[in-house]
Amino acid sequence: MRILAIESSCDETAAAVVDMGPSYRRILSNVVASQVDTHALYGGVVPEIASRAHIEAISMITRQAQSEAGLSLKDLDAVAVTHTPGLIGCLLVGVSFAKALAFSAGLPLIPVDHIKAHAAAAYLSHPHLEAPFSALVVSGGHTSIYRVPTPSTFEEIGGTRDDAAGEAFDKVGRIMGLPYPGGAAMDALAAEGYALLETGDLKKIPLPSPALRDCFDFSFSGLKTACVNYMHNYRQIHGLDKIDPIPHEEKVRVAVSFTDAAINGICKTIRNVLQYTHEKTLVLAGGVAANSHLRKAVLSTAEKHSAALYTPSIQLCGDNGAMVGAQAYFEYLAGVQAGTGLNAFASGEAATICPAL
Ligand code: KG4
Ligand code: ZN
Repeated sequence: MRILAIESSCDETAAAVVDMGPSYRRILSNVVASQVDTHALYGGVVPEIASRAHIEAISMITRQAQSEAGLSLKDLDAVAVTHTPGLIGCLLVGVSFAKALAFSAGLPLIPVDHIKAHAAAAYLSHPHLEAPFSALVVSGGHTSIYRVPTPSTFEEIGGTRDDAAGEAFDKVGRIMGLPYPGGAAMDALAAEGYALLETGDLKKIPLPSPALRDCFDFSFSGLKTACVNYMHNYRQIHGLDKIDPIPHEEKVRVAVSFTDAAINGICKTIRNVLQYTHEKTLVLAGGVAANSHLRKAVLSTAEKHSAALYTPSIQLCGDNGAMVGAQAYFEYLAGVQAGTGLNAFASGEAATICPAL
């Protein structure tokens, strides 16, 4: 089944063509136009600017996805689009565009949940992955744990009660003066920190765990605030002004201390989830799943519980259209289709009662 999939929930305008079937999962094209450089000026995504940038890019990106796949509209079997959750103005651009395209070409329209799509990226990197599995989706906007009994059924069993993991990575990076989004730079700094920890040349900062007791929930806001306070105190003690650069060694210490606390909290919760669900298959997905230290630690946690870990390739961890196409295939098999009444919803819960579906 050849699906043209569109993603515009945040600051990436993306379109892809995937070819999915019972025994094959192929990415024919996967085009992503990132707005990161624009939003870096403001230290975070500005919703109104993001929506306008999607409007400017979406036709060209979709055309490019079709041309790279070598397919015209008549060769396609369906159009898919992320309709929830995300920034409402951004979602509306993708949803309106996809509705018009599907209607004009007489193709079925498949609405897709962005979080499910992140987990579905793992199908593309691992052709033999099948539900049931447990999934942890860690991104800039979301951090949630699901039981996934069938590919289109996601039962949330835990998640963050405040900040998403990626949001915390970005905030700590920003306070250290790293370019937005800080996740990848934090990853590299933490690598230096782990090497120094091994040789005994660095001491970690004691920080609170994001894992909450007796549940599968997280709180990343306390961990983030502890890092922010540490940096403020450091500046005061060393007589540094707000704009004075923090010494590199101190950035390394904060990055590795934050990363280690975040990873230990996540792995502790994953251990509890695997014990509770008795599941032997785990999916780790979302933008933060690109973190090299997190990937290693979750793999070792899964192995200790005799569970197999499936993580999308690094290129498929961040927002992209192929992951939307992969999830759309399973939604279609489950009978999910939308008409021209399809709407966008900023939060996932609202979408479950969407009358248009
Ligand atoms: O999934 P995604 O592309 O967008 C959302 O749906 O939110 O995730 C973006 C997030 C950002 O917070 C970014 O800093 C983080 O993923 N990220 C990372 C890494 N690469 C991207 N966080 C930690 N380590 C990384 N290597
Ligand atoms: Zn995302």
